[in-house]
Amino acid sequence: TPPPATPQYRPAYHFTPAAHWMNDPNGMVYYQGTYHLFFQYYPGGMTWGPMHWGHATSPDMLSWKEQPVALAPDSLGYIFSGSAVVDKNNTAGFGKDALVAIFTHHDPKGEKAGTNTFQNQSLAYSLDAGKTWMKYDRNPVLKNPGIKDFRDPKVSWNEATRKWVMTLATLDRITFYSSPNLKDWTKESEFGQKLGAHGGVWECPDLFPLTLNGKTHWVLLVNLNPGGPNGGSATQYFVGQFDGHTFTPLNEKTKWADYGPDEYAGVTWANTGNRRLFLGWMSNWEYANQVPTSPWRSAMTIPRELGLRQEGGELYLTSQPAAELETLATKATTLQNVAVKTPVDLTTRLKATGDRHKLTLKTAQLSSFELVLGNAAGEELVLGYDQAAKQYFIDRSKAGQVGFSPKFAGRATAPRLSAAAGTELTLYLDAASVELFADQGLTAMTEIFFATKPLTTIKLRATRGITFQTISNTPLAPKAMGK
Ligand code: FRU
Repeated sequence: TPPPATPQYRPAYHFTPAAHWMNDPNGMVYYQGTYHLFFQYYPGGMTWGPMHWGHATSPDMLSWKEQPVALAPDSLGYIFSGSAVVDKNNTAGFGKDALVAIFTHHDPKGEKAGTNTFQNQSLAYSLDAGKTWMKYDRNPVLKNPGIKDFRDPKVSWNEATRKWVMTLATLDRITFYSSPNLKDWTKESEFGQKLGAHGGVWECPDLFPLTLNGKTHWVLLVNLNPGGPNGGSATQYFVGQFDGHTFTPLNEKTKWADYGPDEYAGVTWANTGNRRLFLGWMSNWEYANQVPTSPWRSAMTIPRELGLRQEGGELYLTSQPAAELETLATKATTLQNVAVKTPVDLTTRLKATGDRHKLTLKTAQLSSFELVLGNAAGEELVLGYDQAAKQYFIDRSKAGQVGFSPKFAGRATAPRLSAAAGTELTLYLDAASVELFADQGLTAMTEIFFATKPLTTIKLRATRGITFQTISNTPLAPKAMGK
């Protein structure tokens, strides 16, 4: 039996399964007006176990309806992470416009027996818009050549070669494969054994083009566990060129799609035209199995739209809340010209009432400050900017329950990459999470926390003084989740 329920930690506009364990987003695909989100799911308990693909659908990536489990373990093993595509030209022969899922079969018996071939890539397809799934009867389609970690296929159509490309995490590097039909795969190249962050295993990659000023660049996302910038799991990325065969990075700098401790396994949706929409698992392998929620464990991040920006001679990926989030906004309370020198309590003036809201702070001259979100129990979530370190930070060490894991309490930091004098910070707060976006998406930071009462007070501190042109509080009113 699960521990007592914690409805106070159930987010309003982030996806959570009604019950049981969830990790990575899988198979995200937009199809006939519906966003599909599959996810690593263990319907038998609240900790990681034999993996299934859970399933949820949404018209806007914010209000989700949980669907029956899409894929369950079989004789080839558990159903690990992977992707889904729309096979418009029926290349695989399952049917025109079939939805095809490409995932890793993880064989726990092979793992226990000490083989190096227990992870293989397989297919499943749906001919009824994702409602029911059939596994391909000749699985696996890509056999393991003897690499212990060989998983998380992300497949996309490559226009230049008119072939499918599979981007696969293979221990300490990415291996690219190509196929005309999703069934027969040819190795193209490897990338990254000597590049990027390698504090742990490479997992859940993604590869996609983005255009900046008329020029197309390719972005390679590589999730890493452990070895993230604030410990544990995190999403790094490379910008470069991909010619259908080989990925060539622009340079060797390690960059992160999200610097916070609680965005992992983030990848993008298939079939969304010119928009590149990203979503991650809002937890960290350091403590995911211990977080104090019940009867479910873990939520997803908000959907984000990705872009590119040039800053100080570098090309960076930008992450911004997807435009759909605006549909949740109710009447904002906006303060103008707030000069902060001694601590100020803005709770009343900002009409702060609860924990599901958006805060924006705009300044023409950024310098050190602390934004303190608190409650009557004396708990505080402290976020802000440290001028000397040129870092944004989030400190949850006093923000409620932290004792469930020695890895949880602490202060996470993220570099400020912009050289501009001013900035606009946007914070999305839900029941147990905050997502920070700064400098038009150059820095993103995601963090979960477990206050024992909602954080209803808003205070600002800035020992050397700072003036905000505007501070705005927008309560968010989600449409009912489809549960
Ligand atoms: C990433 C990951 C994947 C794997 C899945 C198993 O969090 O370890 O590499 O496919 O989780 O649940």
